[in-house]
Amino acid sequence: MKVKLEKTITDRTVDPDILSYTVGDDPVLDLALVKWDCMGTAAHVTMLSEMKWLKRPVVTKTEAAKVRKALAAVVKLAEEGKFAILVEDQDVHMAVERLLTAKLGDLGKKIHTGRSRNDQVAVDVRLHMKDEILAAESEVCELARALVAFGAKAGAVPLVGRTHLQPAMPSTVEMWATGHAEMIIDQLENMEAAYRLADLNPLGSAAGYGVPLPLDRARTTRLLGFSRTIHNCFGASMARGECEAALLSALAQLMAVLSRFAEDLILFSMPEFAYFRLPREYCTGSSIMPQKFNPDVLELVRSKAAQTLGLQTAAISLLHAMPGGYNRDLQDCKWLYMKGLSIARTTLRILEKVVKGVAVDASACRRAFSPGVFATDVALRKVADGTPWRDAYHDVRDQFAALYDGKSAEVADLDPDRQVALKTHEGTCLGIDRQLYLRRISEALASALSRRKALDKCCKALLK
Ligand code: ARG
Repeated sequence: MKVKLEKTITDRTVDPDILSYTVGDDPVLDLALVKWDCMGTAAHVTMLSEMKWLKRPVVTKTEAAKVRKALAAVVKLAEEGKFAILVEDQDVHMAVERLLTAKLGDLGKKIHTGRSRNDQVAVDVRLHMKDEILAAESEVCELARALVAFGAKAGAVPLVGRTHLQPAMPSTVEMWATGHAEMIIDQLENMEAAYRLADLNPLGSAAGYGVPLPLDRARTTRLLGFSRTIHNCFGASMARGECEAALLSALAQLMAVLSRFAEDLILFSMPEFAYFRLPREYCTGSSIMPQKFNPDVLELVRSKAAQTLGLQTAAISLLHAMPGGYNRDLQDCKWLYMKGLSIARTTLRILEKVVKGVAVDASACRRAFSPGVFATDVALRKVADGTPWRDAYHDVRDQFAALYDGKSAEVADLDPDRQVALKTHEGTCLGIDRQLYLRRISEALASALSRRKALDKCCKALLK
C-alpha cells in the first residue's frame, strides 16, 4: 500500500507517522511560545535591517517595521486563541513564517535569513522561562507571606518541638510556621541561579556554528533584554537543555521543601495531634466511610514533589549522553520544564490557599506537652545554679520519674507558655524577627516586578 506523504513548509515530503512522531506535542506546547517567538523574530529582523552588508540590506527599515507589525498581529491572534500550529508546520517557528509569508509575500520568506530554528527555540524557551520564573518567584513570596501571617496570628502559642517525631523541646506555632517560610524563601536562591542562566542570549548562533553574515549579536541581546550574549555559537547550541535542567533542579528542590511542609500539616491535623484544623471544604471524603475528611490536597503535594524530581532526572538523563550540537532529543526537554513549572506554580498557589484556611487549636497544642518536653529546660536551670551541664543532664535523666510525678517542687512551675517565654535569643520562640521575613519577601517581590516590567517593555518596543 502506498502511503500518502505529508508536505511540510520546507517542501519536504515526509511519511505521516514519522512526521507525527517527530513533531510530538510541539503544536500544543509551542502555543506557550508564540509571543516569545515573535519577539525573537522582531529582534532578528530589526538587526538584519541595520546590518551593514552588501549594498542593499536583507530587509529595509520600512520592511522590518512591517514585519514587526505583522508579528504583533500574530501575538494578538494567539491571545484570542485563533493561532493554530499545524503538524505540517512542525512547530511555532514554521507556523509564524507560514503566516507572515501569507500576509507579506516575499518579505515573509526573508525573516529566516541567517537564522535557524535551533537558535529560535533556544531564545523562545529562555524568554518564556524568564517570565515564568519571575511569576513563580512572586508565588513563592505570597506563600511565604501567608505563612508569616499565619505564624504572627498564632503568636506564641506553644507547640511541642519534635526530633525523630518524638517530643523534644518547647517551641511555638510561629517558630514552626516561619521556619517553613524561611526554607521556602531560601528557594529563591536556586530559582535565581536558574534565572541567571536563562537570561543569556543564544540568538545568532544559527544552527550552532554561526553564518557568513555580519550579524550584530550584541544588538539582539539588547533588544531582547538579555543580560549578555552566549559568546560561542557552538556553546550556545549546547546550552539548550542546560537551563531547562537547572530550572528543574531548582523546582525539584522547591517541591521537596513544599512536600515536607505538607507532611507536617498532614501530621499535625490528624485527630491524634489535632494542633491544626483544615477547613472542611479543603478536605475530600470517602465513598464508603461517612466520617472522613481527608487531606488529599496535601498528599498530592508529596506526589507532585516526586514527579518533579522525576522530571529533573529525565532532563539530565536526556542530556548526559547526547553528542555536541543540536539533536532532536532536546525537543523533549520542552515539555519536561513546562510540566515542572506548571506543577510547582499550581502547588504554590494551592498551598497559599490552604495556609490561609488552617486554624490552630491552641489548647490541643498546650495539652500535647508531656513532662519530658521540659527535661532540657530543667537541666539548664540546674546549670544556672552552678551545676556543670553533664551532671545536670544526668541528674534529670536519673530522677526523671521522681521529678515528674507531679509532686516535685522543682518542676511545679513548668508550663508551656512560661517555658516558651524564656526562649528569647535570635530565631527561637520569642526571638523570631517577623520583619526580617517581610523585608526579604518585599525585596524579592519588587525585584521580580521590576524585571517583569523590563521584559514587558522590550516586548512592547519590538511588537508594535
Ligand atoms: N521543535 C524543535 C525543537 O524543539 C525546533 C528545532 C528543530 N531543529 C531541527 N534542526 N530539527 O527542538
